[in-house]
Amino acid sequence: MNILELAQKRHSVRSYTSQAVEQEKLDYLLETARLAPSAVNLQPWSFIVLQSEEAKRDIQECYDRDWFKTAPLYIVVCGNHHISWKRASDNKDHCDIDIAIATEHIALAAEEVGLGTCWVCNFDAAKCHKLLQLPEGIEPIVILPIGYASNDFVVQEKKRKPSEDIILYL
Ligand SMILES: Cc1cc2nc3c(=O)[nH]c(=O)nc-3n(C[C@H](O)[C@H](O)[C@H](O)COP(=O)(O)O)c2cc1C
Repeated sequence: MNILELAQKRHSVRSYTSQAVEQEKLDYLLETARLAPSAVNLQPWSFIVLQSEEAKRDIQECYDRDWFKTAPLYIVVCGNHHISWKRASDNKDHCDIDIAIATEHIALAAEEVGLGTCWVCNFDAAKCHKLLQLPEGIEPIVILPIGYASNDFVVQEKKRKPSEDIILYL
């Protein structure tokens, strides 16, 4: 699959089977994140894999949705605000941008190897920070549930704005 085909096929999966994710596939996903670009190559990220029943129960408390509980594992993508690049002209923190690139690498790689995932940002970040005992300045930014999509999961039609509304040639 080329990158356009991956982008066309990838969709948010909100129902998973209990089938475990193979370690080899998980390693592959994480390697694509490790290789992601970041501002000034500062790589202000860490990836916390939650697989134990106890850890999964904790993270499920941070995002209380039935579908979310079906995932066999989660990756919490964390940003380190102590080291992320701040633009000199206005001090803009590029942490979220770096984390987003690494996260989407994982999401596309998951699609490539037949796994499903869904970006989750609407979680209780303060609770997550506490439960994972993260130090100050380390922010849990995205949770990615990962697993095999269950048969009852219906793929929604991709609703996207047309090119002419979003692309400007000058
Ligand atoms: C930054 C970001 C945050 C998101 N947060 C959530 C979330 O908290 N819960 C959820 O169900 N989906 C979340 N999504 C998934 C979007 O709803 C989804 O990507 C969008 O509707 C397009 O659908 P698609 O991914 O199937 O193409 C998030 C996506 C992004 C990029």
